[in-house]
Amino acid sequence: MLYFLLGILVVIGVQTILFVKYHKRRLKINIKHMMLSALFSIYSIFIIEFLHDRRIHMNYELLFVFLIFIPIGITMPLIYQRYKYFLFNIMYVVFIDIYILILQHSGMIKCNVLMIFFSVIGLFMGYFICICINRLFPKLRSSLILKKRRKKNIISSYEIEIITLCFVFLFSILATVQNVSGKNLNKKMKDTIHNLPDAENQVNDRYSHIYYADTDKYDRYDAYAAIHPEMAIEEIVWRVDANLDQDFYDEKYVKYADENTDSPLLLNKFSRVSDDFEPDELVTLEGDYIATPQTVAAYHKLTADMKDLGMKIYVCSSYRSVAYQDRLYRYYLKTDSVEEVDTYSSRPGYSEHHTGRAIDVSQVYNQLDAFEGSDEALWLYANAYRYGFIVRYKADQTDVTGYIFEPWHIVYVGEEISKTMHDENIETLEEYVVKYIDHQKP
Ligand code: DAL
Ligand code: ZN
Repeated sequence: MLYFLLGILVVIGVQTILFVKYHKRRLKINIKHMMLSALFSIYSIFIIEFLHDRRIHMNYELLFVFLIFIPIGITMPLIYQRYKYFLFNIMYVVFIDIYILILQHSGMIKCNVLMIFFSVIGLFMGYFICICINRLFPKLRSSLILKKRRKKNIISSYEIEIITLCFVFLFSILATVQNVSGKNLNKKMKDTIHNLPDAENQVNDRYSHIYYADTDKYDRYDAYAAIHPEMAIEEIVWRVDANLDQDFYDEKYVKYADENTDSPLLLNKFSRVSDDFEPDELVTLEGDYIATPQTVAAYHKLTADMKDLGMKIYVCSSYRSVAYQDRLYRYYLKTDSVEEVDTYSSRPGYSEHHTGRAIDVSQVYNQLDAFEGSDEALWLYANAYRYGFIVRYKADQTDVTGYIFEPWHIVYVGEEISKTMHDENIETLEEYVVKYIDHQKP
């Protein structure tokens, strides 16, 4: 945002300086053209600024890429006078695409390579619109372009455009550098604040002893504590770290859990996978149901031990693709309101079933509601952790998980995690992730 605003100021500054310069030398200038060029530069900076902190995946995001390149396709032929300069337009878009790929490569954004295709299509569409405008309103275009320069006292170069474009490029590079170094800088600042002696850092006293307290969230801890005066300060902190002070599915807080890994641990209403996510490997679990190999191995061990005790459970659901969850969610919406559906079904992209590690079970096939209170459910509740599973949506944790009690939904997290959670009385994966994954226990 900072670079966007700075970019606008510089573009306006450059245009003004050039205007004064041409005016003094009594050179002929086309004000409309100058404005168009300034607008184009500002728009270019906007695109770069917009794209570089955005995740471009599928569907509407790609449509958006297509749309935002249309104005570039319209303005460029106007600024660069002749259609033959369209080659230059394509080079320009290629520059933006390369820039985005560099950002993706450096791990700052996650984008779909189809984006390049969509940006070029957007550009062509803009170009087509420009031709139509030209046909329909020939005078409009001729009033916007710089006239062919024959006389000496007419600007004879693309000085205006070239200088402003240089600034566009400069700002995109600066924004990247800031993005890379800014992350390190923020981390350094955090470390420094953590290490300050208490006397110098009195304001942090309340939370500084909690190793998973983030200094930039102190205001949020205070606000959450004010609403929950009964809650222990440690609980306040991990809950806010898990974004529980925010509305579920708030886009500002939703993260893509598959950004750096093929097997994300935590999926919830703030943590989703991309639409095209698929686990690395899925194998048969039971019947047509599939799950990851580790999940299947652990589940077979668990059911073998249950069998020895005379108990049997059936798989009622396991791996689900995002597309399948989408169909399921829409199906539920036919009878229930969004608010109701959100209490028992994940929105597509947010379901643990996407990971291939979640399994819904019941002692009566396909009757999840029959499971609650059964011997099998009670045994699972007490013993699942021994096999690396946890019962994910517990009865008294609905405000943390966002879902009603689902005694049938177990998820494989590995024995190390399930045993730590059991030994430390950690009831939800949200709390575990804050305390053991996002923060290093001292
Ligand atoms: N029923 C669980 C929450 C899901 O839809 O993933
Ligand atoms: Zn489930």
